[in-house]
Amino acid sequence: MNQDELKKAVGVKSVDYFKSNSIVGLGTGSTVYFMIEELGRRLKAGEIKNITAVTTSSRSEKQAKELGIPTKDLNEVDHIDLTIDGADQIDKNGQGIKGGGGAHLLEKMVAINSNRNIWIVDQSKMADTLGSFPLPTEVIPFGCEKTFKDLEKEGLNPVYRLNEDGSRFLTHNKNYIIDLKIGTINHPHLLADWLDHQVGIVAHGLFLDIVNTIIVGYEDGPKVIDN
Ligand code: A5P
Repeated sequence: MNQDELKKAVGVKSVDYFKSNSIVGLGTGSTVYFMIEELGRRLKAGEIKNITAVTTSSRSEKQAKELGIPTKDLNEVDHIDLTIDGADQIDKNGQGIKGGGGAHLLEKMVAINSNRNIWIVDQSKMADTLGSFPLPTEVIPFGCEKTFKDLEKEGLNPVYRLNEDGSRFLTHNKNYIIDLKIGTINHPHLLADWLDHQVGIVAHGLFLDIVNTIIVGYEDGPKVIDN
């Protein structure tokens, strides 16, 4: 199986966890794409009914709408039963890095408002420790050079995320992404705490103690890990 086939297998399997008459969170990314496709198919076939979705990006919103999946804004719902999202790296303790697609602010808000979170990944995302995947931070443009210098002083190897034309990547909320090329994150909670206290950083991609279940795509089929 190639990587896309592994992603599709976990995406399709994860839809088994959605229940009729529920409010669901839809993450973002190439693995989630397959999950949203399958959810749309099952709704159309009547295999699952009365779902309301809260999306985490304009990409997922567009896909959901095209498939006839009813959507609501996070402000319009009083709870989310289950959110299914992808991840960029997951360590052996079930802690994760997200934001490779730049959607981690909305993803984190939806995740912390969800009663349950499931991540779907192919096997390449699993690691002993986090950090070989650069850690995304979302920073407001105001004073961003100061924020950048603070990250540098802390030894976090910051790099602005750029578009192909060399311009700075802009998030949904028109902020910049600074990726931190750390290598190995030995103390994710300490780092998350420090980043949480930097005023110019709106959100970072460390998703700690959030996920309940991880579905990993392996050659011999998806494996479910309860965290
Ligand atoms: C989006 O910002 C990310 O958090 C994605 O959820 C993550 O990058 C996983 O995406 P893929 O499934 O495309 O790897």
